[in-house]
Amino acid sequence: MPELRNPPGTFDVLPSQSSEWQEVLTAFASTVSRAGYGLILTPTFEDVAVFSRIGDTTDVVRKEMYDFVDKGGRHVALRPEVTASVARAFIQHRPATPWKAWYAASNFRFERPQAGRFREFHQVGIEAFGSPDPDLDVEVIALGWEYFASLGIDSVDLLVNSLGDQACRPAYREKLVEHLSARREELCDEHRDRIEANPLRVLDCKREPCRAVSAAAPRQVDNLCADCEAHLHRVEAGLKALSVPFRIDPHLVRGLDYYTRTTFEYAGLSLDSSQNALGGGGRYDGLVAAMGGPDTPAVGFAIGVERTLLALQAGSGSGADAERLDAFVVDFAGGDAARDISARLRAGGFRVDRAFDSRSAKSQFKSADRSGARFALVVGPDEFAAGTVGVKDLSGGVQEPILLADLDSELRRRLDRRTP
Ligand code: HAM
Repeated sequence: MPELRNPPGTFDVLPSQSSEWQEVLTAFASTVSRAGYGLILTPTFEDVAVFSRIGDTTDVVRKEMYDFVDKGGRHVALRPEVTASVARAFIQHRPATPWKAWYAASNFRFERPQAGRFREFHQVGIEAFGSPDPDLDVEVIALGWEYFASLGIDSVDLLVNSLGDQACRPAYREKLVEHLSARREELCDEHRDRIEANPLRVLDCKREPCRAVSAAAPRQVDNLCADCEAHLHRVEAGLKALSVPFRIDPHLVRGLDYYTRTTFEYAGLSLDSSQNALGGGGRYDGLVAAMGGPDTPAVGFAIGVERTLLALQAGSGSGADAERLDAFVVDFAGGDAARDISARLRAGGFRVDRAFDSRSAKSQFKSADRSGARFALVVGPDEFAAGTVGVKDLSGGVQEPILLADLDSELRRRLDRRTP
């Protein structure tokens, strides 16, 4: 039988690699819960119709969705993003507004796997429903910014744009179609025949011929109605007031169709340009109504966890070893001490592991070294008889006896002394 492996575009995170995952998830929960966002969990798969409003002309829906008919004959899809699922839950449960939710979830897109681009990937994000106030856009954008700062990722470029609304977008769209049609022959093969279906897609195309035509195209920010312009100005003023540095990028187009007015992206400066979007989001005031719910403005973002980790590893982050074990119990006096000491220290809040199977002292010391623990707690027959424990700094140093009764306070003292 051939060796079984994980599918292309997916990966395993082993216990030895997962402490950074824990760090980025915990930091996110802490940042957004302080602003009143509550955790939401939704199903990994939904009725395919939940995702159709992301946009029939987007790659995400057209080419990348994992959809299938299940054994009960239902057409379902693995979620390609979380926003539509949260909107579905909002419509279904009708909570009072404003309603603020945060999530950490995996998503599925059938993309060409490469560094920073996976078929199953993870996002952390927030969504806020029920207020058209531009100050809510500011809160949302600033929370993402604060999150990166809390991880020590400072090489982030925040790009902001406005995509207008139903009052000003139709006229802009017409102008854009006119511009693109006049230069149709210069566009790439994919977009030459798709101008009318969704002209904004052309602006998002990364291929050189389309980029040249896009550069000269009319810009939505120059064609906003008075309300959209006032909204954008208030967002700019709010970000300035909070000292969140940003740049207006009139060419910023998001890959999903539900956006209105404010859109934004956090670009990671330490990442390759093909995968430098650490996260992005914006307002989607029309999505809930388009999905059959009450007219409800909303705004949110999602941040890619894998890309955030890449940015951390690129050296701009803290990379703290918060999950390192404090101690490893080496017991070659029968096993009772390993059982009792590890349980007692864990209950006292220490991170402790131990060996099993009555292995030799040498083999247990090897496991202690491999575990990455800071201290070995050694109980041989002599220590056991004397009611003591040997403490040994695993980065070097001699073993010292301490009284079992003083173990918690002695271990805490030594850990504090070692932590920079
Ligand atoms: P998105 O731009 O499609 O937006 O995805 C957000 C982030 O997810 C990206 O910036 C990137 O970091 C990460 N990401 C996307 N695709 C992949 C992939 N194949 N592999 C690894 N990472 C990936 C959304 O999903 C919207 N739901 C954001 C939003 C929330 N808008 C409003 N609320």
